Amino acid sequence: MAVRHFLRIWDFTKEEVETLIEKALKIKKTKTWERSLQGKILALIFEKASTRTRVSFESAMIKLGGHTLFLSRNDLQLARGEPIKDTARVLSRYVDGVVLRTYLQETIEEFAEYSQIPVINGLSNRFHPCQVLSDIMTVIEKGKDLYKSKIIWLGDGNNVAQSWIEASALLGFPLILCCPEGFDPEEELLREARERFQAKIEIVRSPEEALTDAEVINTDVWISMGQEEESERRIKAFRGFTLDYNLLKRAKPSAIVLHCLPAHRGEEITEEVLEGPQSVVWDQAENKMWFHMALLDYILKGA
Ligand code: CP
Ligand code: NVA
Repeated sequence: MAVRHFLRIWDFTKEEVETLIEKALKIKKTKTWERSLQGKILALIFEKASTRTRVSFESAMIKLGGHTLFLSRNDLQLARGEPIKDTARVLSRYVDGVVLRTYLQETIEEFAEYSQIPVINGLSNRFHPCQVLSDIMTVIEKGKDLYKSKIIWLGDGNNVAQSWIEASALLGFPLILCCPEGFDPEEELLREARERFQAKIEIVRSPEEALTDAEVINTDVWISMGQEEESERRIKAFRGFTLDYNLLKRAKPSAIVLHCLPAHRGEEITEEVLEGPQSVVWDQAENKMWFHMALLDYILKGA
């Protein structure tokens, strides 16, 4: 059987995504699961910092009976120039799966090309697929109908936004992106979403318009990891895109606010909104672990 990787949401079918989310919700609700990964080893190779993704994957793996090895780039010969393709082939002989967090999506793709074990994207410059599927789990858990709710992405058309685009296209729910000019997601990705999946994705420029009657509001940092040098330019460009209480008042009273965290209070979101009654960010962070359990069980069990 061919090795199954999860490098972006479009690597899965709609049915697979729905099943994984259902499974994650069930594990969380019943607090029962099988220790299906006993004896399996998951390596996590992270080029960038991580609190949630790292710890939730490690906890998920341990709950399922498996083991983890956390490796920063500096722990490996990668830091001294050993090629990705050699690292991938060697690690395939030692462990049963790898989660990679890299600067470039191409690095993860190259690793997967040479890997004989499943590779999972734990964030790259282009995508954050595990994040968005666990976020959708949270939206469903909070009782929102994906297909009938006004779902907004407010802010940068970044890696998380691009995984929302893939989710919207694959699952077929409408999505509105509200980004300042110059910070849209990749044009080519939007084109493919529309042509291949007939995606119902709209871009609007006005946060006030986007937020009106919104039911699910997502935001994220203006400066993603690796973009630190652009900080000044970005802070200027995103003026008016802070999710504050005034903006939130335009949304439905029942609206929920998601943020994948870490949050920069006072930039993309205010303290008041992040800590307010409509924020679901702590449950959202928790759900990464339940979702990763469902994902690891699916992708590693047969591997
Ligand atoms: N949301 C998320 O991926 O957080 P970390 O960077 O802490 O993993
Ligand atoms: N867009 C953010 C997400 C962090 C989890 C980044 O890439 O830094």
